[in-house]
Order: sequence, then C-alpha cells, then structure tokens
Amino acid sequence: MLALDLKLKCEIIKKKLAKIQERNAAFLHLDPHLVQQFVMKFIAYNVRQDERAYFENWSQENNIEIKLVADEVTSKNLSLSKGYDAVISFQTGTYPAEFFETLASYGIKDVSIRNVGVDNLDLAEAKKYGIAVTNVPAYSPNAIAEFSVAILLQLLRNQNIFRKRMAANDYRWAPFVGKEIRALTIGIVGTGRIGKVAIDIYKGFGAKILAFDPYHDPKLESEGIYIDTLEDLVAKVDVLTLHMPGSDKDGHLIDAKMIEKMKDGAYIINTARGSLIDAKALLTALKSGKLGGAGLDTYEFETPIFNHDLNETGVKDELFKELVALDNVVMTPHIAFYTETAVENMVNIALDSAKSVIETGTAPTLVQTK
Ligand code: NAD
Ligand code: COI
Repeated sequence: MLALDLKLKCEIIKKKLAKIQERNAAFLHLDPHLVQQFVMKFIAYNVRQDERAYFENWSQENNIEIKLVADEVTSKNLSLSKGYDAVISFQTGTYPAEFFETLASYGIKDVSIRNVGVDNLDLAEAKKYGIAVTNVPAYSPNAIAEFSVAILLQLLRNQNIFRKRMAANDYRWAPFVGKEIRALTIGIVGTGRIGKVAIDIYKGFGAKILAFDPYHDPKLESEGIYIDTLEDLVAKVDVLTLHMPGSDKDGHLIDAKMIEKMKDGAYIINTARGSLIDAKALLTALKSGKLGGAGLDTYEFETPIFNHDLNETGVKDELFKELVALDNVVMTPHIAFYTETAVENMVNIALDSAKSVIETGTAPTLVQTK
C-alpha cells in the first residue's frame, strides 16, 4: 500500500516536472518579439525636464530600458549610443555628418525622432546604412495651427506697440486701430495636417480662405479654395501663412521677388521652417512698409539662438536683433508645438515607433525605409 502510494506520488511529481519543463521550454523558445522586448534598450537625446515623466512611464509600461541624455546629439556624445537598439532624438539643428554611419557601426537599427520635420536628417545616409527613420507626423497639429493664429492676432491688434506704451504709462489708443480677421483674405500655403486645422480656425473667424498646395485635398478642392500658383496666391491675400515642410534644395520659397508680388501691407506668418523665408529680404520689406507685419516662430538662422539661454553672451546675429526690435514683428523661439498634449504624444509615439521597428522592422510612422 505504501509502495503504491509512493509510486503514485512519484508519477504525480514526474508529471508536474514535465509540465514545468514544458513551460520552461516554451519560455526558452519564446516568440522572438517577446524575447526582443526583454533585451531591447533605447537611448534618448535632448530630453527635457518636462519629458522625463512620459519617458519613465512608457519605460515601465513596456519593460524597456531607456537611457535619458539631456544634451542633443553631437559628435562628442554619439558614442553613448553604443549598445542600444534605437536612438530617440529631437533637435532642430544639424546632426553630426557621421551620425548614421556611426550608428550603423554600433548595430543600431532605428532612429525615431520626436518631432515632425526630417529636413535636418540625411535620409540618403540612413538608407545607405540600413537605418530606419521614424517621425511623429501628427503629435498635435492644433498646437501649431492655434499658435499661428495667435501671433497673427497680436500683429493685427498692435500688441507690441500697446505693451511698450503701457510700460511707459501711455494708455492712449490712437492711431493704432486694429484689423479683424473676418475682414481679411487668408492665404494658406500647405494644406496638410496643420494647414487644415488653421483653415478651420480661420473659418470660425469668418475669414475668406485661399490656398496653395501642389497636392489638392479633395474636400478643400470642392470648396474651391485652391489657387494654381504661389505667385497668384500671394497677390490675392492679406495674410500669407506657411504650413509646409522646409527644404534646403528649393532655396527660399519667399524671397525678395515673391515679397514684391504680395499686396502692400500684407502680413506673413511662419510657424513652418525658417529656411522658407529669406530673412534679409523680409527685414527690408518690413522696414520699408511693403509688408505690414511678420509673425515668426521660425527664423532662417535660429539654430544657435532658439532654445538656448544666451543671457551671458547675448545674441550675435544682427539681422535677428533688427527683426525682433521692429514693432511689426512678433518673434517666438520655435514654441508653436510646445503644449502638454503635444509633448506627451511626441514621446509616446516616438517610443512606440522605435519598439515597432525593432520588433517588426517597420512602423506606421516610418519616413525612411531601411
Ligand atoms: P503635412 O505633411 O501634413 O502637410 C504639409 C503640406 O505641405 C502637404 O499638404 C504638402 O503637399 C504641402 N507642400 C509640400 N510642398 C509644398 C510647396 N512647395 N508649396 C505648398 N505646399 C507644399 O505637414 P504638417 O504636419 O502640416 O506640418 C507642416 C510643417 O510645419 C512641418 O513640415 C514642419 O516644418 C512645421 N512644423 C512646425 C512646428 C513648430 O513648432 N513651429 C511644429 C510642427 C511642424
Ligand atoms: C517639428 O516637429 O518639426 C517642429 O518644428 C517642432 C520642434 C522641432 C521644435
């Protein structure tokens, strides 16, 4: 009886051991995506204080280690990315020339940027070295569209002048009578995600809207807002607002010749890219009165200035200083994107994209096929 009992117990133990072994085997032959997830490691550059909590939450939820570096990517700190699978970056300035070559030599497969514009990345190099590049195409088009309208409002209501007057205890009105948006024709250049939100906002104000974009959105097309050429658009509008990508190759979209074609006293709003406007030609047109005002969240030579504390050195760029000093210029340091909603989306979408590329070789936000 005792022997039988023991035999039974042994059988049960054997079965239990087999089950454990089975589970271990299954564990050892885990789905490669799951295994990858345990060993996957990311490095994130240029991480600000306001982004850290989003990184930490995502890291915990996804069980993936992320090294957070406060500085943006430079030739000096590129070697920190050795041993990681993906680089999560975010910068408006230039990346080191050897960026992709060096990352490839470290076996890195992915660069996921936390912003939209890829104009500062050498995508041909990324392709050459087999590195996937993802962006965050739509972290919050509203953030930028709202801001572009906000800076136009400041110009139309002479806010710079009234702020200065009040600082000098001068509370008179005249002669700085403002303009209402509904009385104006707004020219939208680029009717993509941000341009479309801007159109909706301007419709709310009751403005007349015209647009130029080589690609015609079918719904907007049916509203008859498209003008065939940029030259024709600029001649018809009171406000020109740019919502298209920047490109080094095309030179300036808005140069002295294009400004000449604009209506006298027209306004220009640029929350897109500084490279789109010839800043020198713009300054001349603002000083001469050819243009009524400019709202600039981006500036041609912004890299050494924006998002830096220059309190000690001051700004060396004379063109910038002249522009900022004008009453009919509202200049902001590339902050149109900077809202809580946008920052959270930028971090989460970039990290999701990097994880997806490492696990599956692709991501919905892929801008560069390997
Ligand atoms: P999007 O890709 O959705 O739309 C861009 C549109 O521009 C497209 O419809 C495209 O057809 C059009 N376009 C391309 N070339 C053109 C040309 N030569 N003339 C007229 N239209 C042209 O992009 P989006 O999300 O609307 O963003 C637009 C741009 O805004 C980005 O590329 C980026 O440079 C800028 N941006 C700025 C900030 C900021 O904080 N200031 C933040 C995000 C994006
Ligand atoms: C972008 O997302 O492309 C932006 O312009 C915002 C950011 C780089 C400051």
